[in-house]
Parts: sequence; structure tokens; C-alpha cells
Amino acid sequence: MARRKLIAGNWKMNGHLDHLRELHGIDKAAKTHPQVDVAICPPATLIAGAVARVPGLGIGAQDCHDADKGAHTGCISAAMLKEAGAHYVIVGHSERRSDQGETSEEVCGKAEAAHRHGLIAIVCVGETEAERDAGEAEAIVTAQIAASVPADSTADWLVVAYEPVWAIGTGRVPTLDDVAAMHAAIRVKLAERVGDQANKVRILYGGSMNGDNAADLLSVPNVDGGLIGGASLSADKFVPIIEAGAALA
Ligand code: PGA
Repeated sequence: MARRKLIAGNWKMNGHLDHLRELHGIDKAAKTHPQVDVAICPPATLIAGAVARVPGLGIGAQDCHDADKGAHTGCISAAMLKEAGAHYVIVGHSERRSDQGETSEEVCGKAEAAHRHGLIAIVCVGETEAERDAGEAEAIVTAQIAASVPADSTADWLVVAYEPVWAIGTGRVPTLDDVAAMHAAIRVKLAERVGDQANKVRILYGGSMNGDNAADLLSVPNVDGGLIGGASLSADKFVPIIEAGAALA
């Protein structure tokens, strides 16, 4: 089953208005390689500015609330993100699961909210180092999939990102065999959850992906793209990852 690769950048809490200049080089690479999808998820304050600068590039957010509106000080709804011009929203990133204590059930509600408002949800899962050392990585991640992925998901609005917590921002990556095993396990669990759609849902790998390791990671079966943090902050570092994905498409 051929799935279009998605190369998505997550700027996290980095970047001010002047940082949007990086989007021009990224947008150019995206246009040169139309066989892959490219997205950048800047801080929410930069979404409208990003869309104005590079209207053709996929722009996303890093979180949304599960409710459409209401008394939730400081939160942003999927409808607001859509109005700002976002196409995607990351939900359940491990930094939010740990820093904000988000549960998989909440993440599922956020993904549903994204869908209600026409956004593509990128649902993140991943084990900690202690969980991997204890031999529990697959059990943890597949349980996160079961609870975080809405049962009515379809591949046109659901993307999954497998991000081992210990690989995020550390320069460490799992072996390609471990990535293959986990992505295969995720696909099996997705089939239980969303049936036939599971074959079409893209499963991204995230955690210290860069221009040097992207070709190898993106070649692993069931790796349908990347979710990239640090290396998405500059066009110089991000474009080689887009090119690696494009070369495999
Ligand atoms: P990293 O972050 O590429 O800096 O490891 C990935 C992520 O957290 O999405």
C-alpha cells in the first residue's frame, strides 16, 4: 500500500516573527518535491503569519482543546486554529503528556475536535526509556494507540507519530529493526481500532531525525514520514529531510 510520505516539523516553543523567514526555503523544497506532503507546526501565535507568508505550505498547530469553546483560560480550540489557517494539529505530544499531564483519553477528545473542524490530527505515542528497558515498549505504545485514536478515524484526517520519549532531542535513535517492529505493531493495533483504514493511515517516526539519518529511517517498512523537532527550525536542516523523503516516493 503506497502512502504519501509526510515530513512535518514541530517548532515547539521556539521562534518569533522573524523566524518565519525560514519558511521560504522550506516552501520552495515542498514545491520542488510535490510527491511528499510537508508541514510546519509553529507556535500558535505564528500560525496566521506563517499562512500569510507561504500560503501553499501545510501549517499546523501543536495542541488544541477538546471542546469547541468555553471557559478554558489559555486554551485554543480546533475551530480557532482552523480559522487561523492551520491544516494540521499535533495532539498528545509526549511533552504535553508529561508537562501537562494529558491522558490518552483527553488526546482522543482532542483528535475528535480536530476532525470536527476539518484539521488533520497528528496523534503522538511513545514509550519512556524505563518502559523500553523493562520490555514494555510495545505494550505501552499499543495501549496509547487504543485509547488515543478515535474509533471512527479515517486516513484523511488521522496521522500517527511514534516518538520514543528517550529519542526526542537527545540525538539517540532506536535501531531500524526496533522502529520496524514498533511501526508494525502500531499498524496491527490500528487495524483493531479503525479497521480497513489502518492500511492507509500514515505512521510517522519522530525523535532526533535529521538530514543524516532520515533516508534510513524513512526507508523502514511502515514509516510513512517524520515528525521533526530541532532539525525543523531551519530550512538548511529541514530541507535535506524533505529531499530524503522525496527520493523514496
Ligand atoms: P526532535 O523532536 O526531532 O528534536 O528529537 C521531535 C519531536 O519532539 O517531535
